Amino acid sequence: MTLIEVEGLTKTYGSGDNEQTVLRGIDLEIQEGEFVAILGPSGSGKSTLMNILGCLDGYTSGRYRFGDKDVTGLSETELSLFRNKQIGFIFQQFNLLPRLSAYENVELPLIYQRSSKADRQTRTKQMLTRVGLGDKLDAFPNQLSGGQQQRVAIARALVTNPSLLLADEPTGALDQANGRQIMELFHDLHAEGKTIIMITHDIDIAREATRIVHVRDGKIEKEERVR
Ligand SMILES: Nc1ncnc2c1ncn2[C@@H]1O[C@H](COP(=O)(O)OP(=O)(O)OP(=O)(O)O)[C@@H](O)[C@H]1O
Ligand SMILES: [Mg+2]
Repeated sequence: MTLIEVEGLTKTYGSGDNEQTVLRGIDLEIQEGEFVAILGPSGSGKSTLMNILGCLDGYTSGRYRFGDKDVTGLSETELSLFRNKQIGFIFQQFNLLPRLSAYENVELPLIYQRSSKADRQTRTKQMLTRVGLGDKLDAFPNQLSGGQQQRVAIARALVTNPSLLLADEPTGALDQANGRQIMELFHDLHAEGKTIIMITHDIDIAREATRIVHVRDGKIEKEERVR
């Protein structure tokens, strides 16, 4: 089944003399269960594309379908509800809330979804155990290593069981060993059937995916199957 279908997507920032077109007609299809890497140099439009795919940002023209939904027509409120339910995000800088424990960071999306306390407790503990942090529930972000913080962020992204995991340079702030652990986790998630889109400018990281979409100057330059 097709999860994502994008046609002729463009994005222009600013107006008049400041106008800058960052995406110039992106056509992209992603099937359920795929692990796709979006690879391209700095400034090529990768994060802009991710923010649009993740419904964090609007686009200037084109069409975007997610599952059986046409995202194009949704209002701000509808978009944020849709996003909370369907999409988990992971960022290069983890973006954990510093005053909340690992447990509380992961629990937060479930509070937004108004899950019951018992349900939140089960799922939060399950997810943190899943990423190997069952013994760090009460630790605050500054008491965790970079790799551990990123694993908390992954638990937070997945605790609501979203259809899509979107990761922008997930290993960009990590050393090789910690980066390796995160990639192993992605492989496990992919094997379990999760759809993953990962943005990177590192060809070796991109090769971990099953398909590489090369982006340059706001366009898809080519697509490549890895295996
Ligand atoms: N909010 C914004 N307003 C104006 N221009 C922006 C905005 N966000 C991004 N841009 C511009 O869009 C272009 C693409 O930026 P984007 O962040 O998508 O690149 P990227 O491929 O993710 O780069 P990097 O690998 O460095 O993260 C850049 O030239 C950037 O200056
Ligand atoms: Mg970026």
